[in-house]
Amino acid sequence: MGASAVVAASGVTKVYRLDGVEVRALDGVDLVVERGDSLAIMGPSGSGKSTLLGLLGGLDRPTTGSLAFQGRDVATLSDDELAQVRNQVVGFVFQSFQLLPRTPAVGNVGLPLVYRGLGRAERRRLAVQALESVGLGHRLGHRPSQLSGGEQQRVAIARALVTEPAMLLADEPTGNLDSRSGEEVLELLARLHDERGVAVVVVTHDPGVAERFGRVVVVRDGRLAPEEEVARSAATGRYGPLGTLGRSQPQPPAPDGGPGREQAGPQVAAPDEKTRAQREASG
Ligand SMILES: Nc1ncnc2c1ncn2[C@@H]1O[C@H](COP(=O)(O)OP(=O)(O)O)[C@@H](O)[C@H]1O
Ligand SMILES: [Mg+2]
Repeated sequence: MGASAVVAASGVTKVYRLDGVEVRALDGVDLVVERGDSLAIMGPSGSGKSTLLGLLGGLDRPTTGSLAFQGRDVATLSDDELAQVRNQVVGFVFQSFQLLPRTPAVGNVGLPLVYRGLGRAERRRLAVQALESVGLGHRLGHRPSQLSGGEQQRVAIARALVTEPAMLLADEPTGNLDSRSGEEVLELLARLHDERGVAVVVVTHDPGVAERFGRVVVVRDGRLAPEEEVARSAATGRYGPLGTLGRSQPQPPAPDGGPGREQAGPQVAAPDEKTRAQREASG
């Protein structure tokens, strides 16, 4: 890790307190997202995936452990400074799109630029550019209700992109879409990763989605699954080489005590084995 990482989580826990009851949503997670990374986060419902993504996106702070954006520990940042880091480093895409309903596409996409103090004309120019880059140059004035689900998610991706973040975080971005629109959204994320070198991190419980990413980690009960299991999960040979988001060069299996999960690239072995991680994640 180090300052080159976009975000680095080390020993991170997150405890929610509701009516005096403690929920340990994350329990000692180490994860690094490097520049240009391509990562899928899988795991059963309630395992802590959204909590982890929220932390990686600076939407929240860990209860304990350290979290650093480009080498800056969030513990040393004020809330305003953290918001600024978030605005500069992170683009967030939600399952439910989270668009302002009465605002046209171009206004939704330009919103993050308001916090940068850009004038209206400049915001519009950049928003139009971002909408064109997701294939929606012909829908600038449409409000969310006038767009299909897939189009709304592409507007949300344009909004995430307009600030030129180092990292796009997407929490089940295809979860509310039919399979064809979901496919288009994944193709779009793949293209953005390839063409812009933006790191893409996607939460999904769909193995078919996960297999298109360079590496996969599995969250279970607030912890990342043991390293070998993740390695095997990523070792079906379907991640990486065949995925449009994957790195193009397959690498030999890691020797014993091989790379930590934060560095794990695509690994090729046992192509037909369906791992426990995959079965559980899909069940
Ligand atoms: N804001 C919150 N307040 C209290 N508990 C929460 C909150 N957010 C999540 N949790 C709990 O934390 C655990 C992990 O939730 P979450 O990260 O949403 O899981 P996932 O995205 O994998 O379904 C769950 O038990 C959930 O009920
Ligand atoms: Mg979730």
